[in-house]
Amino acid sequence: MKLPTFLRLFCKNFIAFMSSQLDKLTPREIVAELDKYIIGQHDAKRNVAIALRNRWRRMNSIPEMQKEIIPNNILMIGATGVGKTEIARRLAKIANAPFVKVEASKFTEVGYVGRDVESMVRDLVEQAVNMVKSAKKEEVKQKAQEIVEDMILDVLIPPMYPNTSFQNTPRANVGFEIKDDNDVVQPPPPVTSMPDHELNERTRNRFREKLKAGELENRKIEIDMQSSSSPNIGVMGGPIDDVSMMNLQEMLGNMMPKRSKKRKLTIADARKILLEEEAAKLIDMDEVKEEAIRKAEDLGIIFIDEIDKIANSGGKGGGPDVSREGVQRDLLPIVEGSTVNTKYGPIKTDHILFVAAGAFHVSKPSDLIPELQGRFPIRVELQSLTEDDFYLILKEPRNSLTRQYHALMEAEGVELSFQDEALREIAKLAFTINSDVENIGARRLQTVMSTLLNDFMFDIPDVIGANAHVVVTKELVQERLSGLVKNRDLSQYIL
Ligand SMILES: Nc1ncnc2c1ncn2[C@@H]1O[C@H](COP(=O)(O)OP(=O)(O)OP(=O)(O)O)[C@@H](O)[C@H]1O
Ligand SMILES: [Mg+2]
Repeated sequence: MKLPTFLRLFCKNFIAFMSSQLDKLTPREIVAELDKYIIGQHDAKRNVAIALRNRWRRMNSIPEMQKEIIPNNILMIGATGVGKTEIARRLAKIANAPFVKVEASKFTEVGYVGRDVESMVRDLVEQAVNMVKSAKKEEVKQKAQEIVEDMILDVLIPPMYPNTSFQNTPRANVGFEIKDDNDVVQPPPPVTSMPDHELNERTRNRFREKLKAGELENRKIEIDMQSSSSPNIGVMGGPIDDVSMMNLQEMLGNMMPKRSKKRKLTIADARKILLEEEAAKLIDMDEVKEEAIRKAEDLGIIFIDEIDKIANSGGKGGGPDVSREGVQRDLLPIVEGSTVNTKYGPIKTDHILFVAAGAFHVSKPSDLIPELQGRFPIRVELQSLTEDDFYLILKEPRNSLTRQYHALMEAEGVELSFQDEALREIAKLAFTINSDVENIGARRLQTVMSTLLNDFMFDIPDVIGANAHVVVTKELVQERLSGLVKNRDLSQYIL
């Protein structure tokens, strides 16, 4: 009696969790999710959680207001390695939203042209299209599998009356030939005198079962495959903008006769390829495009990293600063809301959430042009990480370094464990090096851990075999690292 109740409760909670996951995590739940991966930085977590929830709130508000409510873009300020990028990355996972991350500094590189900035919106749409496409493919998977099974069966045992057996399935435009001819095509000698087509049908059914049971996976068949390569066009002379270029390319690709190529493959491999092709045929690309554009418009998140690198530091003027300010000016319309043309159609950027981040060591947020500052009304400052934070970062997150190394050693059958004081010691050393040499935030833990464990990683499995148990103690940490930490010159290079 107890178990079913427990199971029912579990299922109920699980379903509730999944649906809340999908469309409406509360701000507290979002923070709780972020807490699984990121230590501290509560202010930043709170603000991104509110921003995320606000998307849902907007979509569920009265229609007249939906257009009016604009997202409050966020500017995250904090030293290097304190979790800015990590927060944004996790946020996108939680939101199940199209997400792109760009480095603002890349737009200042040589060869930059204003409209390059729009490429981030195009990438976002591309991402949304992929998300929608794979969701739709999942929906038609069952049907595609049935079609492909028939296709493969047709190659193995061609039906006698091609039209009678599977009238409803769209016929493949894939031609087939038999590879190991004699073996397969010949139906087994008739036991009784039975009409040919019945025999054919029976044989097909037998092979269908074999196929289903996975007995024929390694048999080779020959299939005709559409080659999907579209020609690459180079344009001589005058500049041509990206969208026209993309359209031209696609148009030419469609105009070219589809080349098909015969390939011999095992049934297992052929099935994979055919499944892709059939699934793609079953989904309606126009629907995908429309849905993807909507998804990107309403839920998209664009993370602009290194925004401090395009700020004018100290008003020196001239030189590279000109292009930096240019990039800022180009960013303005996109962040404020404009229409960007993509190969999937135009997209409005009004409701895309922008999160910008930067260390602002040299420049300050006030060095950005005022218009751009105004587009990022929410400022959150990320705290520098303390020794205690380091200790927790080693220990708590789902993807913590200790867990990563544990998994690596586990793959070799070696058990790895850390004593608590050892973790404290590592945190202390990392913190010391950060203050003495250079503060690179939590990234320091990576160099420290790899220096600490490198010898083990090298000796496994030759010297330290499977079933061994590696215990990292405080003494071990001190023995391997203290010398380096004390010697500033050494630690500069090694840690
Ligand atoms: N608060 C934190 N909690 C857990 N892990 C963290 C935290 N801060 C940083 N890390 C870890 O440190 C690494 C670097 O962090 P991240 O990429 O977020 O730095 P950043 O703040 O974006 O720095 P930068 O300004 O150099 O881009 C990541 O692997 C991340 O897992
Ligand atoms: Mg970063």
